[in-house]
This record gives sequence, structure tokens and C-alpha cells, in this order.
Amino acid sequence: MEMASEPATGLADALRAHTHALHAEAERTGYVRRVLRGEAERAGHALLIANLLPAYRALEAGLERHRAASGVRCIAEPTVYRTPALESDLAALAGRDWRRSLAHLPEGERYAARIARLAADDGVGLIAHAYVRYLGDLNGGQVLSRVLARSPGLTADELAFYDFPDIADREAFKIRYRRAFDRAGREVGAHAALLNEAAFAFRLNIELSLAVAHAVSGHEPLTPGRPRPAPGS
Ligand code: HEM
Repeated sequence: MEMASEPATGLADALRAHTHALHAEAERTGYVRRVLRGEAERAGHALLIANLLPAYRALEAGLERHRAASGVRCIAEPTVYRTPALESDLAALAGRDWRRSLAHLPEGERYAARIARLAADDGVGLIAHAYVRYLGDLNGGQVLSRVLARSPGLTADELAFYDFPDIADREAFKIRYRRAFDRAGREVGAHAALLNEAAFAFRLNIELSLAVAHAVSGHEPLTPGRPRPAPGS
């Protein structure tokens, strides 16, 4: 019997519907847009993933810390963790000195700080961030990887970020992982806070993508619909 408080739509579908417009925006904005147009450079890719790394570190530390907690336990899945892959890509792309040579963008710090705050709390908000990053990497990440292999011609040892060697059947895994989000949703009950957090996670990704495009091109990237906030605002 369904509990009276249980939302009618599963969490995975609800997250997809709620972030649909933001997903379209993420694809056509900033550095992601450049990648899809075949205009990515090695330095830009290194800058992007160096600034995603703190968010993944915070997310994966938080998921491990709360891995027994209600909801989180359904989706804390080490086979998708990306920290070691990002670190090996960065060493291949930018050399052993990458930690010092690549800029720390405030947008990357803001993304990581948001996740760290949720991890310091009860960890439930991490469910939304895991959805945005890992299902993003398992889906659109595969498209990005193919494009990056052509232009600027990144090699397999520079594209470990998008490679999931411990997942034999990615399509089957994606279905199972989305169901894990549905189970997490049933365990935590209310979806509204997670939907808002996932939308916020997309915004943080879009801001980082804009910042990387800005840093690489030195001029304002095309931003459909939404102006970039003034510096210092
Ligand atoms: C910052 C960039 C991006 C983020 C954060 C992101 C995130 C996501 C997420 C969370 C999903 C899972 C939807 C679900 O199954 O519930 C997804 C699916 C998908 N993404 Fe992305 N994505 C990004 C960029 C891209 C790009 C650049 C492409 C391709 C050009 C792309 C193509 C797809 C496709 C084809 C799916 C499967 C859609 C579906 O099954 O409904 N994404 N993405």
C-alpha cells in the first residue's frame, strides 16, 4: 500500500522534469557550448575539471560520511565516484604540477562550498547533487567525451572522467541508478527541497561553465537569456 505522504511521481522523474529547462540551458551556455561546437582547448578542459574537482571531493566525502543515512544509502555508489579519474586526467593534461598551475575560480569554490555545507548537515541534500553530476556524466558526459576526443583531440588517459571502467553495461546501470533515486525519494519523503537543490546545482554548473569560457576566451561568452552577474556582485 502506498503511504499517504508519498509523492505520486518518483524522484528521478521529478528531478528530470524539474531541471529540464536548466539542462537545455547548461548544454548551450558557456564552456559546454564551446565543447559541443568543437572549440574546446586543452587548457580550458583542464581548467574546467580542476574546478569541478573540489565539488566532487566534497560530494564523495559527504556521501561516504552519510552512506548509512536514510535516502543517501540508496545512491552512495562508489563505482560512479569521479575524484581519482579527475586527478589522473589533470596529471595527464597539465603535468604533475597541476595543483599549482591551474587557477582556482570562485565559481568552483562556491560549488564545493555548497556541497560541503550539505555534507556538514544531515547529508540529504547530497542526493540532488549526486543526481546532477553522476547522471550527467553517465549521459551527456559520454557525448562530451566523444567530442573532446576529436577536438582538441584528447587521449583516453586524459578522458578518464567520462569513463566508468567498473560499469559493464552503462545503459542498464543508468536505469538501476535512476531507480535508486526513486528509492531515496521514498525514504526521505518530501521531494520539494531536493528539486530545488538540483535546480541550484544546475545553476552552479552553469556559472562555472560561464566562468571557464570567460577565462579561456577573455571575452564575454554568448549567454542565452541570462546576463552574467556584474563582477563583485
Ligand atoms: C553541465 C552540463 C550538464 C549537466 C549538469 C547534465 C546533467 C544531466 C542529468 C542530471 C541527466 C539525467 C536525466 C535523467 O535521467 O533524469 C542528464 C541526461 C542527459 N543529458 Fe545531460 N547534462 C549536461 C550536459 C549535457 C550535454 C552537453 C549533453 C549532450 C549534448 C547532454 C545530454 C544528455 C542526454 C542525452 C541525457 C539523457 C536524457 C534522458 O534520458 O532523458 N547533457 N544530463
